[in-house]
Amino acid sequence: MSEIIGGYFTSHVPAIGGAIVRGDQQAPYWKPFFDGFPPIRAWLAEKRPDVAVVFYNDHGLNFFLDAMPTFAVGAAEDYHNADEGWGLPVYKPFQGHAALSWHIIETLVAEEFDVTTCQKMLVDHALSIPFELAWPDADAWPVKLVPIAINTVQHPLPSAKRCLALGRAVNKALQSWPGEERILTIGTGGLSHQLDGARAGFINKDYDRFCLDHLAADPDALTRHSIHEMVELSGTQGVELLNWIAARGALGDMALSETTRNYHIPISNTAAASLVLEPA
Ligand code: DHB
Ligand code: FE
Repeated sequence: MSEIIGGYFTSHVPAIGGAIVRGDQQAPYWKPFFDGFPPIRAWLAEKRPDVAVVFYNDHGLNFFLDAMPTFAVGAAEDYHNADEGWGLPVYKPFQGHAALSWHIIETLVAEEFDVTTCQKMLVDHALSIPFELAWPDADAWPVKLVPIAINTVQHPLPSAKRCLALGRAVNKALQSWPGEERILTIGTGGLSHQLDGARAGFINKDYDRFCLDHLAADPDALTRHSIHEMVELSGTQGVELLNWIAARGALGDMALSETTRNYHIPISNTAAASLVLEPA
């Protein structure tokens, strides 16, 4: 029987990729952020996941404003990254798990989520940076990938409540998957940040702490705010928290303990966080 080993959550700021390319992990600006990752890498090395179900948001590499699915599930044999600027390298390809993708898609549609299915899908920094942070020295990524993109970019956005329900429906799919895989869920983005407009640079420590403190034991607490309240509380891009909420939902109702947590302000414009939750 397959097993859900836990969830890994991280911010996905593109500048992190630049710091890795330059070898700046120990520089004073970067060290407090990168210090969050040795415990995560140790945990992953011990738990040896075979497949990662990743909740993230595409920033215009695969979907653009002319065609923006609310929820899109990859069902490809492999996924590629591409040049998206920011001075980032193009990351090595990702092996898919098409059979698990289709099982998730079938479950989601049966659960009345009208998802977009993508048999071709480019994945951007919101997916590649978390992989590079988790497995920095890998010749090939050690997990197969099921990518699930949530629209956090162009309004109207799905509510936090809907994203938690999406994650819970994915959990139902994982529970009924007959394979033997060790499954990791990943949520990327956030925490509070705003890149543009009058509040550019906005960060909200109190709201970030509220989210980090409630994610494991009471994720429904994060769904009490409407999308517009979330924008107000977390910034226009802070709503990437929706990816964390969905990834938490995919862990289901089992009791969770916090394996490691890091929070550091700022990385670029972002309150950057990393977290691992695993079965208690
Ligand atoms: C930044 C943060 C993001 O989440 C992103 O996708 C791009 C840039 C930033 O803080 O620079
Ligand atoms: Fe982002």
